[in-house]
Amino acid sequence: MKILAIETSCDETAAAVLEATESRFLVLSNVISSQIALHNQYGGVVPHLAAREHVKNINHVIKSALKEAKLIIPEVDLIAVTHGPGLGPALLVGLTYAKTLAWQYQKPLIGVNHMDGHIHSNWLEPSEPLDNIFPALNVMVSGGHTELVLMKDHGDYEIIGETLDDAVGEAFDKVARLLGEGYPGGPIISKLAQEGNPQMFDLPRPMLKSKDYNFSYSGLKTAVLYLLRDLGEISEQQKKDIAASFQEAAIDVLIQKTTRAAKEFKIKAILLSGGVSANKLLREYLAKTTQKLEIRFFCPAMQYTTDNAAMIAVAGYFTYKKSGAHSWEQVTMHPNLTL
Ligand code: KG4
Ligand code: ZN
Repeated sequence: MKILAIETSCDETAAAVLEATESRFLVLSNVISSQIALHNQYGGVVPHLAAREHVKNINHVIKSALKEAKLIIPEVDLIAVTHGPGLGPALLVGLTYAKTLAWQYQKPLIGVNHMDGHIHSNWLEPSEPLDNIFPALNVMVSGGHTELVLMKDHGDYEIIGETLDDAVGEAFDKVARLLGEGYPGGPIISKLAQEGNPQMFDLPRPMLKSKDYNFSYSGLKTAVLYLLRDLGEISEQQKKDIAASFQEAAIDVLIQKTTRAAKEFKIKAILLSGGVSANKLLREYLAKTTQKLEIRFFCPAMQYTTDNAAMIAVAGYFTYKKSGAHSWEQVTMHPNLTL
């Protein structure tokens, strides 16, 4: 089955073509046009500017994806499009394009939850086949989400814990800003941290001792703010030490709660996903943890950690396989869609 997928929920205009054969996926093309440079100057994504860029880019991005895959639309078997969560004006661009194509060429259409897409980024070029993995635990870490998701099957999810305030990626972004660095902050912080001492500053681990699986990252960010206020002017080395100490604290809580959940729910595999899954230290710690627990560990290939349409195609495939195509009315904008 050949799937065309479209993703415009935030600041990447993306399209991909995948060939699915018995739950194995071959990425025939994966085109992403990023707007990071545009939004960088505002310190975050500006919704109406994002939508304007999507309108400018979408035609070219979809045509490039089809061309690279050597495919024409009549040969496509399924169209998958992100319908939430995300920025309303941005989502509408991809949705309108996908619905028009589906109507014009009479193709089945699937509206995909962006977060379900992130989960399914693990099925793209995996280190080993993801057979017999359920119940699995998804560690969803992005700019907008920090969630532990108990997965009983594709599409059968229970959120067992989540952040009560800032998401972990958001904390990386805010701390980078406090340190006078740009956006997105995650890659910048982790690079600075490579030459920093994570033991130099003792930062809090909010909610570590709470019995639930919830998180809180705004307190950690505030602790960095107070630390900077106390230190006054900082040296380059101190900046690296703060980055390393912050990263260690942010990851520590994630690892400990994930370990506890893995034991309680007797899960077979941990799946990491979302933009923060690009973090090397988090991957390393989770790999060690799962080895000790004797459970399997999957994390997306680097190029699929950030927003892309290939992951939307995979999630769309499993939804379609389970319950068939969505109706025209079902595929509509849901900015606050949850898993
Ligand atoms: O999933 P994503 O591309 O967008 C959504 O939020 O949906 O995630 C972006 C987030 C940003 O907050 C960014 O700072 C973070 O992922 N990020 C990282 C790293 N690379 C990206 N955080 C920590 N370490 C990284 N290496
Ligand atoms: Zn995302």
